[in-house]
Amino acid sequence: MSSTKPIYLDNAATSHPKPESVYRAVAEILRAGGSPGRGTHQQALTADRLVFETREALTKLFNACDSSRFVFTPNATFAINQALFGLLQPGDRVVTTMVEHNAVTRPLRELESRGVKVVKVSVDSMSGIVKKTALQEACLLEPTRLLLVNHCSNVIGTMQPIEGLGRWCQEHDILFMLDGAQTAGLLPIDLQSLDVDLFSAPGHKGLLGPQGTGFLYIKEGIELVPLIYGGTGTNSRSDLQPEQLPERLESGTVNLSGLAGLHASLLFLLQVGIAQIHARETRLIEKILTGLQGIERVKVYGSDDVMLRLGAISFNLEGRDPAEVAFILDQEEQISVRVGLHCAPDAHRTIGTYPTGTVRVSPGYFTTEVEIDRFLQAIRKISQYYSQG
Ligand code: ALA
Repeated sequence: MSSTKPIYLDNAATSHPKPESVYRAVAEILRAGGSPGRGTHQQALTADRLVFETREALTKLFNACDSSRFVFTPNATFAINQALFGLLQPGDRVVTTMVEHNAVTRPLRELESRGVKVVKVSVDSMSGIVKKTALQEACLLEPTRLLLVNHCSNVIGTMQPIEGLGRWCQEHDILFMLDGAQTAGLLPIDLQSLDVDLFSAPGHKGLLGPQGTGFLYIKEGIELVPLIYGGTGTNSRSDLQPEQLPERLESGTVNLSGLAGLHASLLFLLQVGIAQIHARETRLIEKILTGLQGIERVKVYGSDDVMLRLGAISFNLEGRDPAEVAFILDQEEQISVRVGLHCAPDAHRTIGTYPTGTVRVSPGYFTTEVEIDRFLQAIRKISQYYSQG
């Protein structure tokens, strides 16, 4: 094994490293103690304020109206489950795409068995892009309750053309849900101008917070049946779940240390600015894309247009098992990438890489150009080695 510094290129799975302030905030709140909404002593009130301020920071970052419409969840998967199981009834119809993550396809599969109709719209097998008109046509075939779109595929790294879809859905009495797992924190997202009704995201990917954090945004006027019931720290005399958000959908003690870290990372993002983060991400993606495209035997999946890409690039080395390539990167080069199906088998079926999958490389805000050069050099080496033997 070489003694060079390890390189982390798996930010689509979880961002690493985090801003220094995140590590500090987690440690500080763990030492400070106190449970938000549980008690009237100073520590509880400080914890409560921190949770409130984290909601406020999300509201600012995503230009929403009311911070109480952001419900904290342990991850994006929980948020998606809360939205889908809280909204859909037997007989309802959902339109979605063929490049969704299992966090969407599995709950939808379960809901199908309970009488919900699910329609999956195909995407272009080269670029991974779904046609807006195809989504609209699918929605209009029969009465539709929800259109759910993955903002950017965690496998293909291509963004979907969502502009105008929210407004269109509103005009057709359809709810519009956006899965922002791979875009939140990397791309400016304005929930009001996009007319998004439901928005889910993890705190630990582009938002640069700790694992165990996530949220669901629910636009005013939409009511969801809670996924879980229990103590909320409010109206404790009643055995009925509170009506108001966020308590209605937030039973049990929240992940305070996680939220403290998320609060710090949101302040970091607000300070740096998402537009700048996006510009940096795009530069790194472009460098990887053009670098990989220039290496013999490398096949890159997804759009060639870097402006349509975000976060992750999937590729394969002709004739080689991607697991072997990732193993060599890890063991010989100390470069971490994610290989396989990335919990999104439909996306791999679409681009023709099922069942072995792809090697996926995903830079983050702290990735350097030198690290990308080293990664590309490693791929060149692996490609040459194979051509000799
Ligand atoms: N969904 C995450 C990924 O793409 C975990 O790696």
